[in-house]
Amino acid sequence: MVAAGAPEDACTAEPFVPGRGGLAALRRAAADCRGCPLHRDATQTVFGAGNTDARVMLVGEQPGDQEDRQGKPFAGPAGKLLDRALADAGIDPGEAYVTNAVKHFKFTQAEPRKRRIHKAPNLREMTACGPWLAAELAVVEPELIVVLGATAGKALLGSSFRVTQVRGTVLEEEIHGRPERLVPTVHPSAVLRSDDREAAYRGLVSDLEVAARALS
Ligand code: URA
Ligand code: SF4
Repeated sequence: MVAAGAPEDACTAEPFVPGRGGLAALRRAAADCRGCPLHRDATQTVFGAGNTDARVMLVGEQPGDQEDRQGKPFAGPAGKLLDRALADAGIDPGEAYVTNAVKHFKFTQAEPRKRRIHKAPNLREMTACGPWLAAELAVVEPELIVVLGATAGKALLGSSFRVTQVRGTVLEEEIHGRPERLVPTVHPSAVLRSDDREAAYRGLVSDLEVAARALS
């Protein structure tokens, strides 16, 4: 039996995060993170992608099936929609740093070789993975954070975050000890699931236009 409080129970990425170095050092270290149990079943750590000097950081929930296989955030259908929405809002997707609140894919699977079904990360996992996001923010120092959906919102702004109340507005908050500007919006996967996709897509683009104006 493992005693409570043993390192495997700690549930934080903190001891894995290097104290110095840039994005490349962070990405290398994150590949070996054992900060919470999610690394066990996932294929690989999906670290953020983009440049150190990106002006905007987009924060999603966690990698999905495609991202887990490819090792890149927003590589699947949600990412395709996101890129289109960014371009429609006047934000160059190539100039954004893209990452997730949680860096390993969480899923359920009825049987081996059956489809892996995405499962939302819980507060414990979001908190465990927080040091990676804090480290990305400290290195990239974006002018603006775009918060994609409820999980990213809760991870950054706390459990009382409600996307419907604050979407499309510019928030100023202290995040991991630094003053940040944030624009929350819905998650692109929510647009894909929506009964009225056109309207949901327009809503996403209009929130991203608020972000584009805040950057100009
Ligand atoms: N959904 C997310 O939140 N992040 C990804 O990287 C892909 C899908
Ligand atoms: Fe580490 Fe985050 Fe993966 Fe958990 S989800 S093992 S904290 S990188």
